[in-house]
Parts: sequence; structure tokens; C-alpha cells
Amino acid sequence: MKTIVITGASSGIGRALALEFAKRGYRLGLLGRRTDALASLQQEAVACGAAAVMTGQLDVDAASSVAHQLQSFFQTLGSVDIFVANAGINAFTHVGKDELPAEMRIIQTNVIGAIASIDAAAAHFAQQKSGHIVGVSSLASMIAVPKQAAYCASKAAISMYLRSARIELARHNICVTDIQPGFVVTDIMPDIGKYPFAIPATKAAFEMAEAIEKGREEAIVPAFPWRLFKPFFRHIPNFFWKRL
Ligand SMILES: NC(=O)c1ccc[n+]([C@@H]2O[C@H](COP(=O)([O-])OP(=O)(O)OC[C@H]3O[C@@H](n4cnc5c(N)ncnc54)[C@H](OP(=O)(O)O)[C@@H]3O)[C@@H](O)[C@H]2O)c1
Repeated sequence: MKTIVITGASSGIGRALALEFAKRGYRLGLLGRRTDALASLQQEAVACGAAAVMTGQLDVDAASSVAHQLQSFFQTLGSVDIFVANAGINAFTHVGKDELPAEMRIIQTNVIGAIASIDAAAAHFAQQKSGHIVGVSSLASMIAVPKQAAYCASKAAISMYLRSARIELARHNICVTDIQPGFVVTDIMPDIGKYPFAIPATKAAFEMAEAIEKGREEAIVPAFPWRLFKPFFRHIPNFFWKRL
């Protein structure tokens, strides 16, 4: 029976992913800042078939304490097979409008927080001489979106970090998966369901779990139709965004 640890499990994609792996009989380690949401998820996951569920509070913005907190969480769990760095935020930001604090918050959580989490998992897996690190990036790592410059930059950064980490960690028998979701209906942004090819979190979680279990290096979610459009990601005309 495998053990998976997920950050940002208290809502949205992380929550749906926890329930998907619960159905698959995994042991779950679920992390987030909202412990009340994690407690109700714990009950639901057990009812769905999880072998065991442990929850813990983790704020990835407190980057300097992430390693210590994760190490003790991993030790309590015993062995960990898969670590998913999913915690993330988004917000509309505007370039040149004195919005640096909002842009910095996005970079802090999505880049520094994710790197701190991945670093801690890599150290644990290197000792264990095996493991699987999954990063939840975004199609925004490849598509330039107006009013999302900080978010796109954060996801491009984490995708590149994952690619480099994959090469570096291979000698420790650690594999790395970069998941790039399109639009998934969660609380991350208002009205996200109005964007092209938006899917429910349950569908995203199913496709993500399949990619993780197959040990894919990269997975666009949903694969259809986004993979068909991948060659055109750098050539989207400006007027496209005016229609959204
Ligand atoms: N929804 C989409 O369309 C979409 C598309 C591409 C990529 N993604 C990525 O998918 C991931 C999950 O997003 P979502 O859509 O599921 O959004 P969500 O419903 O808002 O969930 C975000 C999760 O991240 C956690 N989180 C946020 N800041 C945190 C922090 N400082 N420390 C620890 N946990 C933190 C939240 O938990 P607490 O508040 O309890 O801490 C929550 O569980 C993000 O990385 C996002 O960028 C989403």
C-alpha cells in the first residue's frame, strides 16, 4: 500500500486528488493551513477507502520552517512514496500599477513555498533511495496571459525547477512529474468555469492520478483538447484575450 502526501489538500484540486487516491486505497498525508477543512476531508477520505489518513498544518509561505515541519510529518508517517507540491494561489495583477506586494505574494507561495516543499521531499527521498515528486504547475507556464504575469512567471519558474530537479535526482531513484492543468473549477479564481475547456476538480484529479501512477514526466490536464493546441501556445493572438 502506497503513501502519498499532498500540500494544499484542504480545497480544490488537492482535495479532489486526496479523494481520488483514497478510492485507490492509498495511505494519505494531507497538509494545508485550514485544519477544520482537513479534518472533514479526513473523514470523507476514510469513507472513500483510504488505508489511513494523517493531517497536518503547513503554511508554505513560512519557507524557512517548511523543511523541519515536513521532515517530522514524513517521519510520523513512516515511509512516503509520492509527494505532491500542490499548494498555490492566484490573483489578477497588473503590470506597472504599483501591485508589487500582490505579485510578491504569488511568487512567495507558488515558487519559494513550492521549492521549499520539494527540497524537503527530495532530502527525505534521497535518504530512502526512492520516491516520486509531483509539482502542480499550470498551462500558464507555457501560455502568456494578460493580468496574470506574476502567476505565469511563477508557474514557468516551478516547471523549470522540476525539469532540472528531475535530472539531478535521477541518481537517487527519485522521479519527477510536472502536472500542467488548464482551467479547473475551484475557488482559486472567481468564475473560472467560464474559461475555455474548464473541467471539474474530480476530472482533473482522475487524470492527474493516472499520470502519477504511470510515472509520466509531464502531463497536461485535461489532455484533450489542450495537447492538440500545444504547438500554438506561443502564437495566441492578442484579440483572443479581449473576448474572455
Ligand atoms: N484551478 C485551476 O484552474 C488551476 C489551473 C492550473 C494550476 N492550478 C494549480 O493547482 C494548485 C491548486 O489550486 P486550486 O485550483 O485547487 O486552488 P484552491 O482551491 O484555492 O486550493 C489551493 C490550496 O492551496 C493551499 N494553500 C494556499 N496557500 C497556501 C500556503 N501559503 N501554505 C499552504 N497551503 C496553501 C490552500 O489551503 P489552505 O488555504 O488551507 O492553506 C488550498 O488547499 C495551485 O498550485 C494552482 O496554481 C490550478
